[in-house]
Amino acid sequence: MDTSQTIVRQPADLPGAWPLLGHIVPILRRPLEFLPAASGHGDVVKVRFGRLPVYVVTHPAAVRDVLVPGDLDYRRGRIFDRLEPALGKGIATVSGSEHRRLRRLLQPVFTRERLSGYAAVMRTAAEECTASWRDGQTLAVDEVMNDLALTALTRSLFNVTAHPATAEAVKHGMRLLTHGLLLRTVLPPAWERLPTPGNLRFRRATAAMHAAVDDVIAAYRAAGGDRGDVLSALLGARDDDGHGLSDQEVHAQVTTLALTGVEAPGAVLGWVLYEIGRDPAVAARVEAEIDAVLGDRPPGFDDLPALDYLGRVVEETLRLRTPLVFMRRTLTDVRVGGSVIPAGAEVIYSPYLLHHDARWFPDPSRFDPDRWLPENRERIPKGAYIPFAAGAYQCIGKLFATMELTVVTAAICARWRLRPVPGTRVREVATALVRPDRLPMTAHRRERAAGPR
Ligand code: HEM
Repeated sequence: MDTSQTIVRQPADLPGAWPLLGHIVPILRRPLEFLPAASGHGDVVKVRFGRLPVYVVTHPAAVRDVLVPGDLDYRRGRIFDRLEPALGKGIATVSGSEHRRLRRLLQPVFTRERLSGYAAVMRTAAEECTASWRDGQTLAVDEVMNDLALTALTRSLFNVTAHPATAEAVKHGMRLLTHGLLLRTVLPPAWERLPTPGNLRFRRATAAMHAAVDDVIAAYRAAGGDRGDVLSALLGARDDDGHGLSDQEVHAQVTTLALTGVEAPGAVLGWVLYEIGRDPAVAARVEAEIDAVLGDRPPGFDDLPALDYLGRVVEETLRLRTPLVFMRRTLTDVRVGGSVIPAGAEVIYSPYLLHHDARWFPDPSRFDPDRWLPENRERIPKGAYIPFAAGAYQCIGKLFATMELTVVTAAICARWRLRPVPGTRVREVATALVRPDRLPMTAHRRERAAGPR
C-alpha cells in the first residue's frame, strides 16, 4: 500500500449490516471470524455499531498511521471511556497531556531494578503454585494460570502477602470488569444504569474492590518506606516540579494496573503451556534450553536473553492469542492509509486481525516460533505484529508481561511437563483477548537432564 498517494478513497462499507443494529449482532456472535474477514474489504473498512459508524483499520501501515503520531489527533475512544466510571482517571482512561503526565509518573514502576524484583516475586508465586501438584494430576490450566497471574500481580503491586479478603475483592471486581468489557463497549450507556442482577453484582464487586485498595494505600502512607513494589513506586513518584500523585490518583493507577495486568498474562500463560505441551518437538527444545541455561537454578530477570527459544515461543503465542480490539476517537479529520476518517469518529485496530493475516504471516494458524528467528523476522512489516500496540498509548506493562510469561513458564517447565488431555477440543473465546474455553492438562514431574550448571 502506498500511503503517500494523493488519491483519497472512501473507506469501504462492510456488507452484512442489520437494520438499526448495524454490525453489532455479527460482531457479538462471531468476533473471531468477523474481524479477520474485514481485511478482505480494504485497508480501512466502515462498520456500524447501531447507527454509529466505526472505522476498522486493517493494514499494518494504516494502523501505524493511527497509533504512531501519538495523542495529538486521537483520544482513546469508546472502550476506555466506558471503563472510566469503574476505574477513575487511571493511565489507561485518560488522553492527551493528562496521559503524558501520568505516563512519566509511572516510569519508576517499570525500571529494570524493579522488574528484577517482580521477577523474583513471580518465580516464587509459580513455585508455590506447583508445590501442590501431584504427578499425573489433571489441572484446569486456564484457571490455575489466571490465579497465578493474579497472585503475581497482587504481590508486585503490594509486596506483602495481601490480605486474602483484599485479593479476593480485587479479583472478583476485575473478573466482572473484564468479562463485561466487550458488552459495555457496544451497548448503550443507559443499559449500565438498569438494576439488572449483572449490573448490581458489578457495582457491589467494584465497590468492594475500591474499599480494599483504599485500605492498602492508607496503610502504606502511614508506614512510609520503599518496599520495592508498584505501590511504593507510585507513592514515591515525582514530576519535574516535585509534585506526586494524590491518593485518588494512586488508587486509579492501582486499579488500572490490576485490571490491565491480570487477564491478558493469565490467558497467555495458559496458551504458552498449551502450545508447549501439545507439540513434543517444541517441548523438547524448551526443556533442553531451560536445563542448559538454568541447571538447578531458578529463573530470574537476567536469564531472559539466554532463554532465546522460549522467548520465541512466547512471541509466537502472543501473535496467535492476542488482544481483539482497541479503539481510538479522531479529534480532527485524519488521513489513514489512502482514506480520510472524519473528526469525532471511532476507529478500531485489532492485533488479532493483523496477526492472522496470511499476507504477513503465511499459514497464519500454524504455531511456528521460528517465524521470529532474526532472518525471518525481517520480512514482517512494521505494524503487522502489535500485541502491545505502538505509539503513545502502547502497553506500559510490555516488559513486565513478557518477563512474567518467560519466567513463570521457565519455572514450571523446569520441573513439570504438562500435556493436553487427549480428545479435549480447546476453543478460543473472545474477551479482551482470546481465552481458551477450557484447558485441561495433565502434569507429569520431569526427570531433569544433566546439563551444564
Ligand atoms: C500478555 C499481556 C499483555 C498484553 C497482550 C497487553 C496489551 C496491551 C495493549 C495492546 C495495550 C494498548 C491499548 C490501546 O491501544 O488502547 C495495552 C495498554 C496497557 N497495558 Fe497492557 N498488555 C499486557 C499486559 C499488561 C500488564 C502485565 C500490565 C501491567 C502490569 C499492563 C498494563 C497496561 C496499561 C496500564 C496500559 C495503558 C497504557 C497507556 O495508555 O499508557 N498490560 N496493553
